[in-house]
Formats: sequence, C-alpha cells, structure tokens
Amino acid sequence: MPDTLPLTLDAAHLAPDLVPDQVAAWQDRLVWAHDTLTGGTGAGADFRGWLDPAAMVTDAQIAEIEAIASDLREKSDTLVVVGIGGSYLGARAVIEALAAPEAKAVHFAGNSLSAHYHSRLLETIKSQRVAVNVVSKSGTTTEPAVAFRLLRALVEQQAGKAAAKDRIVATTDEKKGALRKVAGEVGYRTLPIADDIGGRYSVLSPVGLLPIAYAGIDIRALRQGAIDCAQAAGAEADPLRNPVLFYAAARNLLYNQGYSIEVFASFEPRLHYLAEWWKQLFGESEGKDQSALFPAAVDLTTDLHSMGQYLQQGRRQIIETFVILEAASEPSLPIPPGDDADELGYLAGRPLAEINHAAYEATALAHRDGGVPNQTLTLPRLDAHSLGFLLYFFERACGVSGYLLGVNPFDQPGVEAYKKNMFALLAKPGHESETARLREAVGKTPQGSVITFG
Ligand code: PA5
Repeated sequence: MPDTLPLTLDAAHLAPDLVPDQVAAWQDRLVWAHDTLTGGTGAGADFRGWLDPAAMVTDAQIAEIEAIASDLREKSDTLVVVGIGGSYLGARAVIEALAAPEAKAVHFAGNSLSAHYHSRLLETIKSQRVAVNVVSKSGTTTEPAVAFRLLRALVEQQAGKAAAKDRIVATTDEKKGALRKVAGEVGYRTLPIADDIGGRYSVLSPVGLLPIAYAGIDIRALRQGAIDCAQAAGAEADPLRNPVLFYAAARNLLYNQGYSIEVFASFEPRLHYLAEWWKQLFGESEGKDQSALFPAAVDLTTDLHSMGQYLQQGRRQIIETFVILEAASEPSLPIPPGDDADELGYLAGRPLAEINHAAYEATALAHRDGGVPNQTLTLPRLDAHSLGFLLYFFERACGVSGYLLGVNPFDQPGVEAYKKNMFALLAKPGHESETARLREAVGKTPQGSVITFG
C-alpha cells in the first residue's frame, strides 16, 4: 500500500448538526455493519464478489481484457458500449473522467429507448469502423437488447457477417442467459459477469474494464487504487481514522435527524458521470422499505446559477458531499490581463484552478451557513489510481451504509414493476393475461383529468 492514500474526508462543515464525537459513539454499530459486510452474514451476502478487487479480476483476466481492447482498437475507429444501469454507468464515469482527447471515441447505446438518440448515433458512426461491446448479465434487458439489434445490423452491414463477429464482444453471464447463447452460436468473444457481482458494483470487473481499456485508460492502476482502498478500509475500525466508516455513519446519522436528500457536488464537469454512477449505487442499494436518503447531484459552478438558489434557501432537507480535486493537480491556465472593464483585474495572472477552488470553499461555507451540512472528499489528483480508490470507497461505504440503514444493499426488487407493466402493454408472450387490464388502466382518463387549452 502506498504511504499516502489518495483520499481525505473533511467533516468540519457537518457541524453543528453532526460532530465527530457522534460518529465515534457509533463505533460498535459501525464495526457490526462492517463485519456484516466483510463476513457475509447480512442480507444479499451472495453478491459481494466485488469486495476483494484483486480476486474479482485476476492478472490473467486483466491481460486478456487489454489484449481484446488492443485488437478492437486496431479493427475499429469507435466503440459503442451497449448496456444500461450497472452495465453502463461505471464505464462511462471512468471514461468521461480520464480518457485523453486523442483516445478513440467511445459511444454509449441501449441506456434509453429513444428513437431520436439511436438514429442520431447510427447516422454519426455509419461511416466509421464500428466495434461493439454489448454488456448485459441477463441478455434480455429490453433497452440494450433493442440497441444491440440495431448496432449488430450496422456492423454486419459494414464488415460482412463473418468479419462482424471479430468486432463484437459480449460481456455477460458466465454460463446462462440469452446473450451467452447468442455469443456461443455466432462465435463472439465473451467476457464473464460473475454471479456474485451486481451491476452497480461491477465497474472494476470486465463489465467496466473492457471499454475503459479501449479508451486507453490504465486498468491496472484503476484496479490497484481499489485494492489499496480495500486494504485501508479493512485495516481500521476507528471511524475517525477510516473515511469509509465515517462517511457511512455520517449519512445515516443525518438521515436519522430528518435529512432526506444527499447531493453529490463536484466542480469538475468531467465528474458528471461519476455522480450518475454514485446515484445508481446509493439509490438502488438503499432505496427500499420506504427509507433512505435520495441521492441527487449537481455540477458546480454551473448549477450554482440554477439549483444554487434551492440549495441555499429551499426546504432544509439536504446534506451535501463535495468531491474535490486539489487545485495544484489541474492545468495551469492563468487569467490573461485585460482593461478591467469586466472588473477582473484582481484575478489577472492567477490560475483558473485557484479560482475554482475558491468557489468551492465559498460554496461549502455558504451552504453550511444556510443549513446544509456538508462534507468534502478530496483527491490530490484525478488519475486511474485515485479514481479506482474513490470508486471502491463509495462501493464499500454503500455496503456498510445499507446495513446500518437496515436494508439489503445488494438487491433491486423495485426495478421490476415498470418492466412487468411494459411487457404487458407491449403484449410480450407470457404477459398477455395482464395486457387488457393495463391497457384499460392506461386508457382510463376520469373526467377532468386531461387539461387542454381553451
Ligand atoms: O445494477 C443493476 O443490477 C442493474 O442496473 C442492471 O445492471 C441493469 O438493469 C442491466 O441489467 P443487465 O446487465 O441484465 O442487462
């Protein structure tokens, strides 16, 4: 493990609502939640394959993923990753955060059913050599399955059926499922999704690693960051010396005080999809039994000019978690001198990153003073190692937090409800018995419930 770990948590602005002594007083409870997670004695224990990042992906698998990525890069100009939810957001979070400008483009499909989005995408990439990584554990999720039909047809049209199979890689269940079957029949290369890893905990498995490697990002360093965080998080039971435990405790203690929303706030646009990934991680893990903080996100300073008003003065129900990069790690971009008509003369020559950092400090203080307890996670720089560390930090904290809350952090029974309705409305075979009832329910518009002009 390196001497200095790439993450610190600053809890000063949680006061007066929460002071470190209150977290320290929860040590026994935290140790119980942590042991429940690591010992596999809690609900959903069969889905902890991500807990040991070194075992989740072996060195041999890393080498295989790198080799496939390099082969795909040779055979294509662009990669389309087809997947949704946990089979999509992790790869996107890392690629948006770290991909170099010269890296081959990675597009994403199958994360919506938008005809406009998909026809635009097909139009954009039709004259490029396209590779596809279709990621689906089940192989029957409607959104990626539909998109895969569209993308597969494009690649087959471009390359011919025989060569197309060399440009398509399926990441799916090791043994079963529709995609595994198709891949076997057609002869696609495959990467496994292990039975004990749910989608939202899969970014550091082959699910995320192949597209991330295609984008030229160092997947070994990413994994090492996670390994370092796992070691650090497992070595310390005192929550005042273990940010994983502190974060899990703080959000539960504040939830118990009546706070109902946690906002992830960053000052880096390239962390936008990290926030999306974080929303899924906590929302899907904890949003059960009519409980849990609602995970939301803002991009700052952008949203200070929109949601900033609500954050400062709206209903007091919000806690905030800033994710910050040290200014010194950002590009040096000094503000040019000018004639001071814009009253920016005092900033001339100062780096933009310093100004962004001052905006963060000002915001954290203003929000605390406005009744939004906030804490800050700081990374010294954004690279593959520190991002791997941060991803694992949130995964582990989420497992502990879920057990503190009293839910199973590894299932997602609620996501089935819309699917059942949609299948019935579309008359999917096996769902017809519900079709008539649902069409009637959808079509029922009690008098006065549709409002039109005039
Ligand atoms: O986290 C999850 O389990 C979900 O978001 C799934 O990843 C998502 O629904 C996609 O499922 P699948 O990989 O089976 O297509």
